[in-house]
Amino acid sequence: MEPIVLTHPLVKHKLAILRDKNSGTKEFREIAAELATMLCYEATKDAPLYDTEIETPIAKMKAQKLDEDNYAFLPILRAGMSMVEGILNIIPNAKVGHIGLFRNEETLEPTQYYFKVPHGIENRTVIILDPMIATGGSACDAIQSLKNIGVKKIKFLALIAVPEGLERIQKEHPDVQIYCTSIDSHLNEKGYIVPGLGDAGDRIYGTK
Ligand code: PRP
Ligand code: URA
Repeated sequence: MEPIVLTHPLVKHKLAILRDKNSGTKEFREIAAELATMLCYEATKDAPLYDTEIETPIAKMKAQKLDEDNYAFLPILRAGMSMVEGILNIIPNAKVGHIGLFRNEETLEPTQYYFKVPHGIENRTVIILDPMIATGGSACDAIQSLKNIGVKKIKFLALIAVPEGLERIQKEHPDVQIYCTSIDSHLNEKGYIVPGLGDAGDRIYGTK
């Protein structure tokens, strides 16, 4: 599946502020959450609705609602946490699991240190959250961990991706639809996205 890239002017505007090295931790967190809301809006375009009857102040009417139980969200720690608030703002009853992964700075291979997901996750559409797709190693590890426990429908929301990471995910998991706000140029020799935004986790938590 080809990645879906959001091109709305508001997305471009927010992304420019997010990337700027002079944007501080507070601004970074707020914008990551806002962009996550916009990605979630796009990723739930095909959400099933159920019919219901409501009463406006004027009259009764038939309406449609989204079954929030259809979804579970899975932020990849740490940086994916910055996107959760933006999701819960619009799907407040969503179930949230967590997967902890960090990249080895030399090999760039991910190591998993935490995995906890909501009960019955295999029957939900699981939307993985991580701002960065670099080599794609962390994304593939998270996707495989979900498939190993029986999850069948997976989507992935990222802020910035690069072609090499996207190609790896598409090759290993062609069934997973990726949504992002930019496809950048390439990875540098240290595995950072160029031009990217630096180390997302460090910028969110002020750890460097
Ligand atoms: C970052 C990012 C992704 C990963 C992407 O996390 O949030 O999870 O790198 O790189 P990849 O595509 O090459 O796997 P990092 O490992 O730095 O951990 P952190 O969020 O705890 O800082
Ligand atoms: N992880 C990040 O946080 N930033 C990058 O540029 C690559 C991986």
